[in-house]
Amino acid sequence: MSGRLDGMVAFITGAARGQGRAHAVRMAKEGADIIAVDLAGPLPSCVPYESATPEDLAETVRLVEATGRRIIASKADIRDLDALKAAVDNGVAEFGRLDIIVANAGISVPEPWNEITPESFREVIDINVVGTWNTVMAGAQKIIDGGRGGSIILIGSAAGLKMQPFMVHYTASKHAVTGMARAFAAELGKYKIRVNSLHPGAVNTPMGTGDMVAALGRAEETNPGLMKMVTPFLPDYVAEPEDIADAACWLASNESRMVTASGVAVDLGSTQF
Ligand SMILES: NC(=O)c1ccc[n+]([C@@H]2O[C@H](COP(=O)([O-])OP(=O)(O)OC[C@H]3O[C@@H](n4cnc5c(N)ncnc54)[C@H](O)[C@@H]3O)[C@@H](O)[C@H]2O)c1
Repeated sequence: MSGRLDGMVAFITGAARGQGRAHAVRMAKEGADIIAVDLAGPLPSCVPYESATPEDLAETVRLVEATGRRIIASKADIRDLDALKAAVDNGVAEFGRLDIIVANAGISVPEPWNEITPESFREVIDINVVGTWNTVMAGAQKIIDGGRGGSIILIGSAAGLKMQPFMVHYTASKHAVTGMARAFAAELGKYKIRVNSLHPGAVNTPMGTGDMVAALGRAEETNPGLMKMVTPFLPDYVAEPEDIADAACWLASNESRMVTASGVAVDLGSTQF
């Protein structure tokens, strides 16, 4: 049976759990080998939900290997360009090529506008913007070197198309990701590399654990009603990570070969409300 990504290699950040794990497993099922990285350790102190662990990353390895594909997983911080380059170099030395980049790792921090500190603003921008740029910079040349073209997918958010109340820093960071995808798409197009941003609405992942829901509730009390601005049209309300992986897999595959510089929303309509 042939998969839509047969023989390809995908570099995925934030792969220990949540959406990153779903992308890794889904792309492996479609025939890709996986180069996976994750912090797999404590997130910045402004983050109210639980951090991923080395055991989470090991579980992703187990799930990918169960599909019959290969995976090289390592602990790396997307703020560290050298660490990402080392992970990509190591993976390409083993698997021989790179075709797909999924810049998925990110953090979100719910805080009313006047409680955001310079530190938390910087943490969110460092990870979501500089880390996303680092991820592309660590892998793009390898795709160019392969001469076959490829697909780069930057994971944005509904907050990168419309906005997310009580997250000025997160909204700013995800708008930066939207623009970054367009800008990379313009310059990498001549190598047949497509660059798109993918914008989930609410997704059922460990981002919703720990104090996250309570922190959102506390922020909402400062301006009741604002959360209505991101009401989905569809009754499901929250997507599963596999729903986002379906779209990522389509963007990675040849089926989307005429799609670049697009912001693809998988948000149940919430950015149109
Ligand atoms: N969950 C949602 O509702 C939602 C909605 C829209 C967009 N997103 C975006 O989707 C992406 C994935 O989020 P998720 O829901 O799977 O969250 P998650 O917290 O479950 O997973 C994110 C992973 O990224 C890793 N990570 C965080 N900072 C890192 C760093 N500096 N270096 C390396 N790895 C790091 C974490 O360890 C974690 O394993 C993020 O970019 C997020 O902003 C999430």
